[in-house]
Amino acid sequence: MTTKDMIVTGVMSGTSADGINVAIVRVPAVKRAASAQPARSSRSHPHFELLGHAEYSYPKRVRAAVLAAMNASQISVADLARLNFLLGELYADAVLATERKFQVKAELVGCHGQTLYHQGEAQIFLGRKIAATWQTGEAAILAARVGAPVVSDFRPADMAAGGQGAPLVPFLDYVLFRDPRIGRLMQNIGGIANLTAIPADSTANDVIAFDTGPGNMVIDAVTEKLFGQPFDRNGKIAASGRVLDKVVQKILQRSFFRRTPPKTAGREEFGREFVREFLGHCGPCKKQDAVATTTALTVRSIADAIRRYAIPRGGSNRKRSFQEMILSGGGAKNIALVAMLTGELATLGLRLRLSDEFGLPSAAKEAVAFAIMAHETWHRRPSNVPSATGAKRAAVLGKISYP
Ligand SMILES: Nc1ncnc2c1ncn2[C@@H]1O[C@H](COP(=O)(O)OP(=O)(O)O)[C@@H](O)[C@H]1O
Ligand SMILES: [Mg+2]
Repeated sequence: MTTKDMIVTGVMSGTSADGINVAIVRVPAVKRAASAQPARSSRSHPHFELLGHAEYSYPKRVRAAVLAAMNASQISVADLARLNFLLGELYADAVLATERKFQVKAELVGCHGQTLYHQGEAQIFLGRKIAATWQTGEAAILAARVGAPVVSDFRPADMAAGGQGAPLVPFLDYVLFRDPRIGRLMQNIGGIANLTAIPADSTANDVIAFDTGPGNMVIDAVTEKLFGQPFDRNGKIAASGRVLDKVVQKILQRSFFRRTPPKTAGREEFGREFVREFLGHCGPCKKQDAVATTTALTVRSIADAIRRYAIPRGGSNRKRSFQEMILSGGGAKNIALVAMLTGELATLGLRLRLSDEFGLPSAAKEAVAFAIMAHETWHRRPSNVPSATGAKRAAVLGKISYP
């Protein structure tokens, strides 16, 4: 039983490896009686109050090191160990700067860490079937610098319970966005794009969640390679190019898109190799056409996934099972992407809304999710959504480091 309000900070650094998102929330001791739908344009929810959020880019060299370490087939173990401690320091800097900015002090921190490898599905390794995941960023360092306990390493406990260890954010989606009358699709576009589908009037068991495919990751990589810029700011380049439909159709034939959820993707699926193959399909096209095409790939893979996997499982009255999509993540800032997505959704009878409209700024959403999950762990309550991860049971997620 929770006896007092708690100030909890969530720290997220996603597969884009762009940097660190920090969100500070107050979690009430007793949840206020909730209308099922969070008040529009309010920062106060029955489950938390957002006190502040901030975003910090990784220094250029750190981003390069993180990207190089992800899925590397060869890397120095010493550098990996150092990177773990370095990220602990950078997370601490980010949390302390955010606390100063908003004049609050966290009593608890939830830190996702930086994923270096994720393989949700078990495969034979040295004669034994093993699934594996690895988030780095030393929580003991973070706890010591911030002076508060830190919950980290959320994914392994779900995998130990038979799940894929991802996605975890559906816990927040379900808590915040379920509605007795409106079926909702929560779409986050980070490095990878992931969808949480919550039919109207559903229980946690009805939640469907999975990765739809690449989010910004391939757009970033192609933009970097062809234009020497880390990402396509506001989608300007994509807006000036032409989509190569044949390439999009060809890529959508890949087995990942045809696999039934639950499924997760990462740099294993849409990393360097994939980018090479994608550019090969584009051939000698205009550079901006390649960026427009990778943007369209993200959008169409989302629409395709909704058509194939979400709508058919959205309840008996299929046509009306989902009415709106709530968008979050860095991809929400890509104007060309959002325009394409609005068009695709219209053909599915879906309205596009931003998570910001619900008092949850799109860039802060995942950081808030890890704050809320850390709070659950602190009280020894489970926070995985078994229908989303494929786990056989509910699990208390994470490990706790004390300052
Ligand atoms: N103004 C912008 N215009 C276009 N894309 C943006 C903008 N701001 C952020 N992004 C995209 O969002 C990505 C970061 O999104 P984020 O949600 O942090 O992903 P992740 O969780 O994988 O780190 C960037 O790499 C970039 O591709
Ligand atoms: Mg990020």
